[in-house]
Amino acid sequence: MKTATGTFLLLDGKAASEALREEIAHSTIGVKEKLGRAPHLAAVLVGEDGASKTYVASKVKACESVGFRSSLVKRPAEITEAELLEVVQQLNADPEVDGFIVQLPLPKHINEQRITLAIHPEKDVDGFHPVSLGRMVLGLPGYLPATPNGIVELLRYYGVATSGKHCVVVGRSHIVGSPMSILMSRNTEPGNCTVTLAHSRTADLPSITRQADILIVAIGKPGFITADMVKEGAVVVDVGIHRISDATRSKGYRIVGDVDFTSVAPKCSAITPVPGGVGPMTVTSLLLNTLKATR
Ligand code: GUN
Repeated sequence: MKTATGTFLLLDGKAASEALREEIAHSTIGVKEKLGRAPHLAAVLVGEDGASKTYVASKVKACESVGFRSSLVKRPAEITEAELLEVVQQLNADPEVDGFIVQLPLPKHINEQRITLAIHPEKDVDGFHPVSLGRMVLGLPGYLPATPNGIVELLRYYGVATSGKHCVVVGRSHIVGSPMSILMSRNTEPGNCTVTLAHSRTADLPSITRQADILIVAIGKPGFITADMVKEGAVVVDVGIHRISDATRSKGYRIVGDVDFTSVAPKCSAITPVPGGVGPMTVTSLLLNTLKATR
């Protein structure tokens, strides 16, 4: 993409997802013949959180697009932890469900860790269970967490060179930052990076981010990364997604990431858009894990 100040490659997650989903749809035909049914992903949605509803809806729609079966299990925000654990146990025991997710965040009165631990590791297509994370750290086959793996697949799709590069990950969440740092340092391709994991307590963050050949941002603050924090020619991956009020838009809001795209993009060799970058890849990665779950 050309702008007044620079030329950069747009890491289009929609295009990469479409290509990957075609491959998944093709593999699904064989799985259906073997199992006598379609791969089946279930999603548990608790409460009425707008963003969670949107994410789950896109996961269900993605299942349809590749020939999977999907089930949406909706429960009110007032559900007790014991009742939600019961839902998890039922899905664990259901032979017709290959994998399932419990959409996060959960209401405050429910312990997310207890719910995550209750999901059978064989059905943990989010890759959040300690067994999945342990297998990832050890380089054993298993479910990789959807967003970090989606980013790896996006870098692979666009042929971004990673070996020997300095990758700076900003944010250390269990869902994105921490597993991302492990995947980028693995002895695989993409991978083989020297990784710095930066977070809210990092001293002089701009001096660290400016060293990044590959900068992956999952800090959860709109427009947090500005042009002065990015090295000329860097590859920038933006995991953030935020609704910002905007009276000039018909919907009354616009979607932005953790990176100030307008100022940062002209400095980059490649950058993900928001929306349409990491988001679609997360969902595609979940489909890849569900396909794995049928094997
Ligand atoms: N909330 C935000 N991202 C995710 C995700 O990848 N999986 C689940 N279950 N909840 C999320």
